[in-house]
Amino acid sequence: MPELNLHHARFAFAAPTWAALPDDGRPEVAFVGRSNVGKSSLLNALLRRKNLARTSGTPGKTQALNFYLVGEAEGGPRGIYLVDLPGYGYAKVSQAQRAAWQRLIGRYLTERPADGPLRAIVHLVDSRHEPTALDEELFEILRGSLAPRVIALTKADKISRNQQQSRVAALKRTLAGSGIEVPIVLTSAEKREGIDALWRWIATFL
Ligand code: GTP
Ligand code: MG
Repeated sequence: MPELNLHHARFAFAAPTWAALPDDGRPEVAFVGRSNVGKSSLLNALLRRKNLARTSGTPGKTQALNFYLVGEAEGGPRGIYLVDLPGYGYAKVSQAQRAAWQRLIGRYLTERPADGPLRAIVHLVDSRHEPTALDEELFEILRGSLAPRVIALTKADKISRNQQQSRVAALKRTLAGSGIEVPIVLTSAEKREGIDALWRWIATFL
């Protein structure tokens, strides 16, 4: 990946449907995970911005696929999209709405890599808990995706170093049991931990 100039980062557009996805050939990196896991916060940390992606203590803040254009300079590189997805399985909307989003997210994660643009997936899992049923549903969906991925364990500042290490080890065991081999990075958007490591993985995939 050519060096990305993070000073050039802006919200580009929101895609509420499959038809609204861009067709401009830029590589995309998706941020997916259940509601409130810290997707928008991690995106801000990666982009060194406070509030470019809107975050909230109330789940369900992100309600479309939000595309952020990063590293594009006039007459220079075209940049890439970081894509902030709605929380997977967000409960406080109608069942039909929730099902529609889950379908769109699933389709985006599996069909978009085959089409070309989706080049890497960051799967966020809360470092404080065992993966939930929704996390596991995502593991299954991602199994069917051609895009390389990395797991970001989020909110690591909320647990001790010992707990962090045992969470990583436990998750590795669980994944190995299902034959899944994915790198895991401990992150804290709050303390800016794991941010460089995550960028390195993204760069490797691009
Ligand atoms: P949706 O858009 O609703 O799916 O949520 P999201 O996954 O984008 O989560 P968001 O980034 O909005 O964060 C949810 C809450 O967790 C907010 O109150 C954040 O301040 C908090 N949070 C996110 N990352 C961290 C972190 O690294 N450490 C701590 N302590 N809190 C965090
Ligand atoms: Mg969000």
